[in-house]
Amino acid sequence: MSRNTAVNSTPVALATALASFEDLWSPRIVTRVNDYDVRVAKVAGEHLWHAHDDTDEFFLVIEGELRISLREEGTERTVALPRGSAFTVPKGVEHRPYAPSGASILLFEPTGTLTVGDRHEEIPAHVDVTTGHVLDV
Ligand code: NI
Repeated sequence: MSRNTAVNSTPVALATALASFEDLWSPRIVTRVNDYDVRVAKVAGEHLWHAHDDTDEFFLVIEGELRISLREEGTERTVALPRGSAFTVPKGVEHRPYAPSGASILLFEPTGTLTVGDRHEEIPAHVDVTTGHVLDV
């Protein structure tokens, strides 16, 4: 897969990266590690139910609290991730992130991974369908 941005050659302060945009559910690519993106996003309210068929998805909460509902083997559960928490959604598992009071998060996932996954419910207007945007800092 071709790269749509170069790996940053200078350090990136995550606070600066997060201060550079306001869009919700619209990740910015901070840097790349081999074939993976490190992305940051601001989130509030609900994302949507979706699944990534071919990859796990890593979450780290930088500010606020993120919750992720998961559907596994016919049951549904929700994990709460306060600031500083890390969690990986296994590939193929339907999940719905949400943040009632807002949060800033870091995502680690293969370059080209769509925010809405490979399977998803109807996409609400507030959700950005993207493989991540160039960080402009
Ligand atoms: Ni996902």
